[in-house]
Amino acid sequence: MIKIDHLSTSYSTIDGPVHVINDVDFEIFDNEIFGIAGESGCGKTTLLKALYDILEFPMIVDSGKLILSGEKNGKAFSYETGQIRKTWWNNISYVPQAAQSVLNPIVPLKNQFLDSIPKADKKRVPKVQTLKRVSDYLEELSLSPDLLNAYPFQLSGGMRQRVIIALATFMSPNVILADEPTTALDVVVQRGILMMLMRLQKKLKNTMVIVSHDMGVHYQIADRMGIMYSGSMIELGKTEDIFEKPIHPYTQMLVSALPRVGDKSQKTGIPGRPPALTNPPPGCRFAPRCPRATEECRETVPKLYEAEQGHFAACHFLNKE
Ligand SMILES: Nc1ncnc2c1ncn2[C@@H]1O[C@H](COP(=O)(O)OP(=O)(O)O)[C@@H](O)[C@H]1O
Ligand SMILES: [Mg+2]
Repeated sequence: MIKIDHLSTSYSTIDGPVHVINDVDFEIFDNEIFGIAGESGCGKTTLLKALYDILEFPMIVDSGKLILSGEKNGKAFSYETGQIRKTWWNNISYVPQAAQSVLNPIVPLKNQFLDSIPKADKKRVPKVQTLKRVSDYLEELSLSPDLLNAYPFQLSGGMRQRVIIALATFMSPNVILADEPTTALDVVVQRGILMMLMRLQKKLKNTMVIVSHDMGVHYQIADRMGIMYSGSMIELGKTEDIFEKPIHPYTQMLVSALPRVGDKSQKTGIPGRPPALTNPPPGCRFAPRCPRATEECRETVPKLYEAEQGHFAACHFLNKE
């Protein structure tokens, strides 16, 4: 389980700090696919990096923390912000955005798999045995073990993404974080990657956190999801509830902008743009674009509020309806 405890982060820039994650507070459970959605620039990648403990300059944790806990092979573990990196690959792994570049193009894939094995295991287990395990694992994922002798530059984009996912999941981590895993790929390949992720989650019964700006991706694979807007989590709940009963005006607009089979109505999109993170409005970040905004919305930041069981939204209207 991952507990995100009132996390706020910023980027240090020459013009001063830019606050990108603002008091984000929620939990991601074992055995679920959790989706993080929101327009480009809202802070999805920043949040995922924080989850993976990539807290390097210029990113700064202003307040709050993360706790990654669970059980693997009968042993309980718990790591906080700053310690999570000790358990990379083993308890948590990460498929970064534009992951295509994480593979070294001139190193054969088998070496990249061997590099992912913890040092202790490397000493204990002979290389041939590990490679056998890797090739069995690839076969299980319907990938050819011959890939191990290939170089990344020889593979298509979709195949490379599959290999990266195989690499990230080989050690059966409790948590897998994937940032826009299908974004650069065409629709048919996308579908294959999503099926692969779903199958893996069913097998490992672990936690998968999938970041995508594409609501269609979440609709297909997420059990629960969170909607981010301008560095804040503004709605959180079961995916079906988000799509069928969106609460926040922003989520309502996001969902109604999606094309549906048989619906011929004109899709308009959401007028306006998110506020600049360097100079955000004082109240609700969405107020300047919100058709319902009142004085209160422009002045006070709304808190995430549980409207129905397990379905949260941050909107001043919720307390009144
Ligand atoms: N290294 C950085 N320095 C300064 N600002 C950054 C840095 N990385 C990201 N940002 C800013 O943080 C905001 C959120 O970025 P990001 O988390 O990548 O959003 P998303 O993944 O939702 O598109 C953007 O406005 C971006 O300009
Ligand atoms: Mg991103």
